Amino acid sequence: MTQSLTLRRPDDWHLHLRDGAMLQGVLPETARHFARAIIMPNLVPPVVTGAQAAAYRDRILAALPEGARFEPLMVLYLTEDSDPADIRAAHASGLVKSVKLYPAGATTNSQSGVRNFDKVRPVLEAMAEIGLPLCVHGEVTASEVDIFDREAVFIDTVLDPLRRATPGLRVVMEHITTSQGVDYARAGGPDLGATITTHHLIINRNHILAGGIKPHYYCLPVAKRETHRQALRAAATSGDACFFLGTDSAPHVDALKEHACGCAGCFTATNTMSCLAHVFEEMGALDRLEAFTSLNGPAFYRLPVNEATIRLVKHDAPHAYPDKIYTEAGPVTVFNPGFPLHWTVEA
Ligand code: DOR
Ligand code: ZN
Repeated sequence: MTQSLTLRRPDDWHLHLRDGAMLQGVLPETARHFARAIIMPNLVPPVVTGAQAAAYRDRILAALPEGARFEPLMVLYLTEDSDPADIRAAHASGLVKSVKLYPAGATTNSQSGVRNFDKVRPVLEAMAEIGLPLCVHGEVTASEVDIFDREAVFIDTVLDPLRRATPGLRVVMEHITTSQGVDYARAGGPDLGATITTHHLIINRNHILAGGIKPHYYCLPVAKRETHRQALRAAATSGDACFFLGTDSAPHVDALKEHACGCAGCFTATNTMSCLAHVFEEMGALDRLEAFTSLNGPAFYRLPVNEATIRLVKHDAPHAYPDKIYTEAGPVTVFNPGFPLHWTVEA
């Protein structure tokens, strides 16, 4: 018997689209299924000002395929020189939906991120006042901290003090990868949310390292041990309002992934909904997929839910999806979940 499921059209609360030829190549993959996405600002140079965000938004809209209905939700990159007045204006105009905090050196193009949190205090206070969420890449960068501990250490030494020092600041813990992240998000009250990626529900660190190194599974924060993956699965499928989908789909051309110093990022835009339906079915939680992909995110961001719907259909035969997307910037490998995908998105 064919199984099917109708959901409100999903949103992606954490997405990398890049720019130029890469943007042109990857945008259709997201726009095909998603209504809106929070667009990460870690371009080179980063999207710091309202004017830069407006220009980037125009480039995204210009790159959309004919007839696509997709709304980019713009984000400003927080630097130590960010101007509170500019951020207030960009929020007031409706252009900007969040500000992204990258600790300097934490990940791809994070060199302009924050080193001294005292320098961004006026911005954080303005954001708390106007209710503009701060999206946080939650990893410390100190070389003496083990890469698998960087999220848990960040929560204790940076995030918790920062939230205590800025009452009312609304925060999204981006792409959580640990049970500590899950527990902290759960306990944080209505001003704290957490995104979970598709790939962190599917891979643990063995997938990256056992039996040969798999560069296409390398991302940041790096996938952790299996107990953490189980905690993320329980969180995502719980229906709890604080957890919502942020794919962190992060395209890099194959030449830079399959490299002696490979870039971090999994490209999941193409098959995310098929992967998620598989995971939620496995967890006996298909009835909570819509909360994760389409309801909890808009509630946190205080935006209306989408009226349009998508239909997921489970087929007996596995669904064939492309191994790679061929962009003008070069080929980008699509995330391979390691199991056949039977769910497809129709209409
Ligand atoms: O894996 C990742 N890739 N993590 C990030 O935080 C950034 C992203 C990218 O921009 O490539
Ligand atoms: Zn990201």
